[in-house]
Amino acid sequence: MSRSAHPAGPRHADVLSEGHYAAPPADLNSLDPKVWAQTVTRDADGAVTVGGVSVARLAEEFGTPAYVLDEADFRARARAWRTAFGQDADVFYAGKAFLSRAVVRWLAEEGLNLDVCSGTELATALSAGMPADRIAFHGNNKSAAEIERAVGAGVGRIVLDSFQEIARVAHIAQSLGRRQRVQIRVTVGVEAHTHEFIATAHEDQKFGIPLAGGQAAEAVRRALKLDGLELIGIHSHIGSQIFDMSGFEVAAHRVVGLLREIRDEHGVELPEIDLGGGLGIAYTSDDDPREPHEIAKALTEIVTRECEAARLRTPRISVEPGRAIVGPTAFTLYEVGTIKPLEGLRTYVSVDGGMSDNIRTALYDAEYSVALVSRTSDAEPLLVRVVGKHCESGDIVVKDAFLPADLAPGDLIAVPATGAYCRSMASNYNHALRPPVVAVGDGAARVIVRRETEDDLLRLDVG
Ligand code: LLP
Repeated sequence: MSRSAHPAGPRHADVLSEGHYAAPPADLNSLDPKVWAQTVTRDADGAVTVGGVSVARLAEEFGTPAYVLDEADFRARARAWRTAFGQDADVFYAGKAFLSRAVVRWLAEEGLNLDVCSGTELATALSAGMPADRIAFHGNNKSAAEIERAVGAGVGRIVLDSFQEIARVAHIAQSLGRRQRVQIRVTVGVEAHTHEFIATAHEDQKFGIPLAGGQAAEAVRRALKLDGLELIGIHSHIGSQIFDMSGFEVAAHRVVGLLREIRDEHGVELPEIDLGGGLGIAYTSDDDPREPHEIAKALTEIVTRECEAARLRTPRISVEPGRAIVGPTAFTLYEVGTIKPLEGLRTYVSVDGGMSDNIRTALYDAEYSVALVSRTSDAEPLLVRVVGKHCESGDIVVKDAFLPADLAPGDLIAVPATGAYCRSMASNYNHALRPPVVAVGDGAARVIVRRETEDDLLRLDVG
């Protein structure tokens, strides 16, 4: 994810030594379908439309900044994952990427399950009618109240993350007269090729129970003894924004190794294996993500092969994609404000949002693309840095990008692929009001999460 900072002059693209912005794109007006939602196109006047609605109309009706989500694209991606894995596997959408009641309903209709990792995500899912038995409950520090709520609601599985939690969930389930279906999350010791903050399979971190030193085997021993628990499988999530399948291969190999040990020691073949989420998407034209059917084929083959070698029945596979479903379906629409050319350095283009609606650039050095969407332009490319309006110099939305040199205050620009981990990680820094999520489709637009208001914020401030 990281590239070095470039001391580039305003139009001197040639000083950039690496990366996809080393040369301006051939046509600044074209929109790469790899990074834009499926129904995004330019109309005859040059303005961008999505779901048949022009961005000018969206900005006028809903204001900026706004997250604009292509409902048809969301449903198509959810369906593609569902179809790719077929009836012998389960797809749990990871709600942390973006969760709202509309999204929960779409997922339920498209036959997906849901992964939640807080009591409030669980409440959102239940309030939108997701059947509890299609919900998985995650987290490294679930409170007793959250566990009670999840068990009480009858969630399909709780993913156990520590020895203490094994005892805690068993105790709560028993006191509620339930036998809770659970998986144990293990860390398989893989170094995933991604930013260290979103890699989760190495042992030195807060998630899961290490396979190393027999700790996971001990966790299984304990879980199998407890009446309140029905151990249905082993879970592994190796990290996020991953393109290389080799990490999943190693993870599957090691998880199946544990299933074999369990069979040998306890005479039990656990029926499920969850390989987590983490599949990467295209944020820029340089990224080449895999299609769900390729991923399904690769994962199914790996697990089947490993199980055959271990003479185990192939367990039911589940996966938990979040970003790969919602990420590409939305863009953030901003209005351009101050444009500041710094002679010999670069040009800063300020927008009416920033790190409060997209913290990913500041936090992970993430790369994004950007385009002028309210009109086309024949002006020459200008190398810019798109920044927000917050009181922090790290408030960067797009580090290096080319926009037309005639860009002016009042123009609308959009940053694609912001569907995942942008609204869900948004903040009120500088008392910014978190933007709405507007769903578009078939020529209509509707707010699915409304913009925060000053009143919303002041109501929390009880003096
Ligand atoms: N399953 C588990 C257990 C997870 O922890 C996660 C993500 C997922 C599934 C979904 O991963 P995905 O398919 O969306 O990559 N805020 C970071 C990403 C953190 C991911 C946390 N866990 C970002 O903006 O890149």
